[in-house]
Amino acid sequence: MANYEFSQVSGDRPCCHLSRKAKICLGVGLVVLIASVVTVVIVLWPRAPMVWKGKPTPKHFSELFLGRCLVYTQILRPEMSDHDCKKILSTFKRAFVSKNPCNITGEDYEPLIKLVTQTVPCDKTLFWSKSKHLAHQYTSVQGKMFTLEDTLLGYIADDLKWCGDPSTSDLNYDSCPHWSENCPNNPVTVFWKEISKKFAETACGVVQVMLNGSFSEPFYKNSTFGSVEVLNLDPNKVHKLQAWVMHNIGAGSSNSCSGSSINELKLIVQKKNIAFSCQDNYRPVRFVQCVKNPEHPSCRFGTWFGS
Ligand SMILES: *[C@@H]1O[C@H](CO)[C@@H](O)[C@H](O)[C@H]1NC(C)=O
Ligand SMILES: *[C@@H]1O[C@H](CO)[C@@H](O)[C@H](O)[C@H]1NC(C)=O
Ligand SMILES: *[C@@H]1O[C@H](CO)[C@@H](O)[C@H](O)[C@H]1NC(C)=O
Repeated sequence: MANYEFSQVSGDRPCCHLSRKAKICLGVGLVVLIASVVTVVIVLWPRAPMVWKGKPTPKHFSELFLGRCLVYTQILRPEMSDHDCKKILSTFKRAFVSKNPCNITGEDYEPLIKLVTQTVPCDKTLFWSKSKHLAHQYTSVQGKMFTLEDTLLGYIADDLKWCGDPSTSDLNYDSCPHWSENCPNNPVTVFWKEISKKFAETACGVVQVMLNGSFSEPFYKNSTFGSVEVLNLDPNKVHKLQAWVMHNIGAGSSNSCSGSSINELKLIVQKKNIAFSCQDNYRPVRFVQCVKNPEHPSCRFGTWFGS
């Protein structure tokens, strides 16, 4: 009886019969087994990043982002120096990392837009369509007006591309969706749409738009200006939209304001109860164009009117 009980007890603790060496062997074996299973899963089940036809996120994207953010907040507009660029970067990334880059929504960027608040003074907003370069030259010389790219988020993102991938929390440095890939809800397009919307919603007073008179449709409905910005102007805050249609130096006709494209814009704006005016070759901008063409007849002093 006593014997039986004894063997019962020892049978409950079979481990005690294993030598220390055997236990170590078993432990090491188990670790090796788990490690090899994990390795096999990683090797045989690779969720390779999606491959796109467009240019990838540039190398050093995060450094570019941070550098531009610091230049803007510490040097260009020190009144914004309390903005935390590292936090802006991490909030920005959270909008699109680990996600399918064709499935980004406006809500994804909402935390970023809430984080970075910037008010543009009334009467100082300049929209542009197909005239980005000249618009930037103008605001840079003029000093007090803002295009979207003169605001912090626009300044940081100008001319950059970026995307993430569902298989990694890193950015995709190999490729990103190309415009031809039927992927309209990609991180870059959605970003610009959202910040353009915010830029227009918060504009006030008299706002301006620079349009390009080289096109038969200086007002293009599918542009960001035509499809996002005009529609999001708030009539309670904006009382007038002034269009400046700029023609290249030496280009003949300069009466786009009376054309059907500008008329279409006029109707849309007036329907919102916002006044509208249009000027071909707005003089202060013309001066900027003339810096590079001082000898052209239309740039000579005294020949401004009618040129
Ligand atoms: C896109 O996102 C929505 C909502 O986040 C989700 O329901 C849908 O399945 C996603 N589609 C793809 C193709 O990932
Ligand atoms: C108008 O667009 C053309 C073609 O993109 C460009 O070369 C020109 O500089 C633009 N003009 C203005 C005034 O922006
Ligand atoms: C403009 O956008 C509309 C609606 O998104 C689209 O149906 C149309 O094809 C576009 N037009 C051009 C010229 O791209």
